[in-house]
Amino acid sequence: MRILIVLFSLLCLANMSVHAQTLEQQRFEKDAQAAIKALADDMKKALMTAMQDGGPVEAVSVCKLIAPTLADEVSRKFALDIGRTSLKVRNPASEADSWETDVLQRFETRLASGEAIQKLSFSEKVATDEGPDQWRLMKAIPTDKVCLSCHGSKIAPPVQAMLDEHYPNDMATGFKLGDIRGAFTVKRDVREK
Ligand code: HEC
Repeated sequence: MRILIVLFSLLCLANMSVHAQTLEQQRFEKDAQAAIKALADDMKKALMTAMQDGGPVEAVSVCKLIAPTLADEVSRKFALDIGRTSLKVRNPASEADSWETDVLQRFETRLASGEAIQKLSFSEKVATDEGPDQWRLMKAIPTDKVCLSCHGSKIAPPVQAMLDEHYPNDMATGFKLGDIRGAFTVKRDVREK
């Protein structure tokens, strides 16, 4: 009988921690999705304004200046860390780590096997070398028509010159409409033990 009670308590404890973890993960995923939407909207607005004001040449420096600032603001607002990455980055600071590379490769496979690009998202708890585990989430960013003037195959010479100047190791060209340009990547330290 005593053994049964001990077993039962253990089961309850295990169950509670699974449940708590799920709630924390749910909260993370909800915040991450909201942060992604906020950042995507902010960046679209900034990009459109810059393109209308000065065309793609001007917009290159706007992207360079404000993309990190917007990401910082959104990170603070949602108490997480949001950025963008890709298998082919323009800014070397945005290069994918091994977890991100893995997820991006799986997005490519999922897209190739017919899944809608808007559905490509993935999240899990990831252990880190040092420090606490992290919740991580990625969501694919589709290549739209407006992206092609700076990430496509036919880039106007003045735009190309600007890109060469700011990003000598640029790998983020040659994308086609509907390709995965990259992904939003979000993380937050896990609090539950
Ligand atoms: C006016 C040129 C321009 C246009 C148009 C443009 N981008 Fe970019 N993109 C850039 C620049 C410049 C960077 C590097 C920003 C930085 O320094 O962090 C960049 C970086 C990125 C990154 C981060 C990863 C990396 O390669 O460094 C993603 C993802 C991205 N762009 C997606 C898009 C998408 C999607 C669109 C269309 C909706 C788009 N871009 C349109 C210029 C542009």
